[in-house]
Amino acid sequence: MSLLDSLNSALARREAKSARRRLTVLPQTAVDFSSNDFLSLSTSPAYRNRFLSHLNNTPESFPFASGGSRLLDGNSAYAEELERFVAAFHKAPTALLFNSGFDANVGVLSSIPQPGDLVVYDELIHASIHEGMRLSRAGKRQMFSHSSPTALRDVLRAEVEADREVQSGTRNVFIVIESIYSMDGDMAPIKEFIQVVDELLPRGNGYFIVDEAHATGVFGPRGAGVVQQLGVQDRMFIRVHTFGKALASHGAMVLCGSETRDYLINYARSVIYTTALGFPFLASIRTSYELLSSGQTESLQQRVQQLIRHLRYRLDGLVMNPSVMFEVDHYPTSPIVSLRTSQPRLLASACQQDGYVVRAIMPPTIPEGKERVRVCLHAGNTEEEIDGLVRTIQAWLDERLARTAHL
Ligand SMILES: Cc1ncc(COP(=O)(O)O)c(C=O)c1O
Repeated sequence: MSLLDSLNSALARREAKSARRRLTVLPQTAVDFSSNDFLSLSTSPAYRNRFLSHLNNTPESFPFASGGSRLLDGNSAYAEELERFVAAFHKAPTALLFNSGFDANVGVLSSIPQPGDLVVYDELIHASIHEGMRLSRAGKRQMFSHSSPTALRDVLRAEVEADREVQSGTRNVFIVIESIYSMDGDMAPIKEFIQVVDELLPRGNGYFIVDEAHATGVFGPRGAGVVQQLGVQDRMFIRVHTFGKALASHGAMVLCGSETRDYLINYARSVIYTTALGFPFLASIRTSYELLSSGQTESLQQRVQQLIRHLRYRLDGLVMNPSVMFEVDHYPTSPIVSLRTSQPRLLASACQQDGYVVRAIMPPTIPEGKERVRVCLHAGNTEEEIDGLVRTIQAWLDERLARTAHL
């Protein structure tokens, strides 16, 4: 079979499972119930004006492009000051910029676990963490059931019993989680996980790595994240905050101690062998953190919470019938809601036809059998838009029921 035949047959297999991915551009007039722009900062005049003034208030000689890797010509006093600013906001010793959350996770997971170490990870962690683990020199990886302290305890207990080095504290164990899960929107039981680790790894060889991509800006004091909401920042070895979601920007920072930062600068290939973010990106990250730290986004956080309550109330009013498989998965404070159905593409396209942008999420992004339509709320959505979306969902459910009745 030629190469192109192989590629085409792989695509055809995805097509047959209704899982083929395609790039789409939806009309600008459509209502956004899909993007990760949770605070609607990307269209906020406050954000735009502050960002433009940062751009305009630099001397004309100031280069816009970074000009190289951080280790060569891509570093600047501006980047270093931004890292200090973000670290202070997050009550972290230091911060290190990466070009994206993907790069941050790949950099951390591929370099930090040492040969022979153990990595224990939640079954729903992001693809970028899997990518980093694949490149890692860790001796072993163990998955545990999603957000289950009991499952974490079982995995750790088995490792402690089987491996003297884990038990004696000479082998490092990394526990890798997200604080808010990107597809389900649920919050990890971080405090319970800490208890389990304290109990089973009392010699201090358990290290948490937590990805706060979906919590940044939305959860915690002034949007600082779930870890700070719980006040457990000193227990996290590494926190990853990404800027491409609620912060309307791009890039990510790894929050960690200074030795870890130095180590990453020396060993994380996704920071060493890539051109660093240029000034416009740094200025946009600075813009969003200035808005966060001055409290200007708090009202947006509250608005998102109001809309979550409204959507929940409306979804609770849906008239369902057991012959049409449909379930709503949502968590009380999360702007991410899953509409679980066996026909997510049909539901998503019914919503899109009515002018609401939602996406069908299919395997392999999520496990087989967990197909869904993902709905995200944003500070800029209105109650009327939510009412309209839920009317469309109800009409689709009624139509599915009528079809089933005719079969
Ligand atoms: C949990 C999680 N981590 C990391 C990433 C990657 O971040 P970025 O989009 O900045 O590469 C994403 C999303 O894309 C994510 O959902």
